[in-house]
Amino acid sequence: MVNIYVKEATSEDADAVAEMIARLKMLNEELDPHFKTVSDLESVVKKYVEEILASKDIRVLLALDAATGEPVGLLVLRKEDRIFYEPRYKAVITDFYVKSKYRRRRVGSILLEKAIDHAKDMGAGIITVVYPAGNTIAGAFYERAGFRDLQVEKYKPLY
Ligand SMILES: CC(C)(COP(=O)(O)OP(=O)(O)OC[C@H]1O[C@@H](n2cnc3c(N)ncnc32)[C@H](O)[C@@H]1OP(=O)(O)O)[C@@H](O)C(=O)NCCC(=O)NCCS
Repeated sequence: MVNIYVKEATSEDADAVAEMIARLKMLNEELDPHFKTVSDLESVVKKYVEEILASKDIRVLLALDAATGEPVGLLVLRKEDRIFYEPRYKAVITDFYVKSKYRRRRVGSILLEKAIDHAKDMGAGIITVVYPAGNTIAGAFYERAGFRDLQVEKYKPLY
């Protein structure tokens, strides 16, 4: 276990947030070619980060090594309205990344615990996540954390 603290990211953390989001998307590409990243990934990520940091319905949580201050993990949570269902609001984990040398040291678990606190604070009654089917590590992590299947997404390539 590593000593970390978690804070809500601000515009001053934009570069650290962007770096981890870009790494996450490149990891998805490695896992499955259907997640091939765009050629201008860096600028797309930069714009995305500006948007999520400014949104009132999105919380961007950053884990930092307490000893060094280095950003070591990231979790992005978005509140969504399930207009047809109860509980009415859900919190969706849209991006979740722990730097590789910090993995298996509870950073992900601590970030998820904090995300659950934030989800409740946002008025959500359920928390969900979607990730590439080939990401078996994420599967093991969420299984251990008590997540269960909610929906299924199928695909058929058209080209
Ligand atoms: C998924 C991820 C966030 C987990 O973060 P982490 O800090 O390594 O997770 P933790 O140390 O808190 O692990 C908690 C439990 O999850 C399970 N788990 C985590 N990594 C695992 C692995 N590589 N293999 C099997 N189980 C694993 C274990 O049950 C683990 O408990 P244990 O170490 O006592 O056995 C991290 O592996 C990661 O960033 N992966 C790349 C990006 C990604 O897949 N993001 C999720 C998609 S949304």
